[in-house]
Parts: sequence; C-alpha cells; structure tokens
Amino acid sequence: MESIPTDLGQRHGTPWTDHHIFFYFWRLFDTHPECKDAFLVFRDIDDLETLRNSRELRAHSLSIMSFIEKTVARIDQDELLFELILDLGKKHYQYNVLPKYYQASLAEFIQAVQPVLKEHWSSDLEEAWKVNRFAQ
Ligand code: HEM
Repeated sequence: MESIPTDLGQRHGTPWTDHHIFFYFWRLFDTHPECKDAFLVFRDIDDLETLRNSRELRAHSLSIMSFIEKTVARIDQDELLFELILDLGKKHYQYNVLPKYYQASLAEFIQAVQPVLKEHWSSDLEEAWKVNRFAQ
C-alpha cells in the first residue's frame, strides 16, 4: 500500500483542509439526520443551511482534521496511537456517538477525501478506510 502522507494539509496540490471534513459532516447530516442526535447543539436543527453556517460544526471539523494529522504523525508509535484513539473513543462513547454513526459516516468521508487525493487515491486505500473495525 502507498505510504501514508504525514503532511496531509499541504500535499497533492489541492490543500486538504477542514473544509473537506466540514463538507463530509454537512452531507452526513443530510443523508443520516440521526447522526445529529449526538450533538446537543444540532439535534433540533432540520435546516441544512443553518447547519452549514454553524460554528460548532466547523469546530468539530477542525477537531477531526487535527486529530487525523496527530495520528498520522504518530503512525509508528503504536502505544501512543492506541492511547490517543482509545481516549477519543471513550469521549465519543460519552457523547453518545453510536457505532452505527461511524458506519454511516464512512461513505461520506470517502466522498470528501477522494477528490482531494485525486490520482493518489487507490483501491488499497479505499479498502483500508472501509475496514469495519466495529465488527471485530
Ligand atoms: C471521523 C472520526 C471522528 C473524529 C476523528 C472525531 C474527533 C473529535 C474530536 C477530536 C473531538 C473533541 C474531543 C474533546 O476533546 O472533547 C470530537 C468531539 C465530538 N465529536 Fe467527534 N470525531 C469523529 C466522528 C464523530 C461522529 C461520527 C460523531 C457523531 C455523529 C461525532 C460527534 C462528536 C461530538 C458530539 C463531540 C463533542 C462536541 C463537539 O466537540 O463538537 N464525532 N470529535
């Protein structure tokens, strides 16, 4: 498999930014509105335009973006990586993010990432993202 870039923010011509993550979440709320339930601030908002302007949605996009960069930068430090991911998983459990929400979000995530990586996208990469870790 192609090695994972550690500078996701700058590579491949088109910058990989929180904008793409924002797009992913915004679409996720459109296709799977139940995912909004985890967010106290969004759960009662049905209007996608209001969500599009939400500061909280943008903030979560930035959180995801920086978490991905943090994990990729530590890709060779198994123990640290495990701790980071476990800690984030525990937090999301407390936020009531159900496993099915991650399942639902996968397709949207790929939709957001694929156009950014362009020719660097590969079937191996797609398969790696598609592994259902919740079923293991
Ligand atoms: C794609 C993988 C995801 C990553 C890497 C991620 C990352 C993060 C991070 C870093 C935080 C801040 C944690 C803190 O310090 O409290 C956060 C908060 C949160 N996440 Fe996620 N998240 C992901 C997916 C999701 C999904 C699918 C949902 C719900 C459908 C969700 C719901 C929340 C909520 C409700 C919070 C707390 C409120 C907020 O910060 O906006 N997350 N997430």
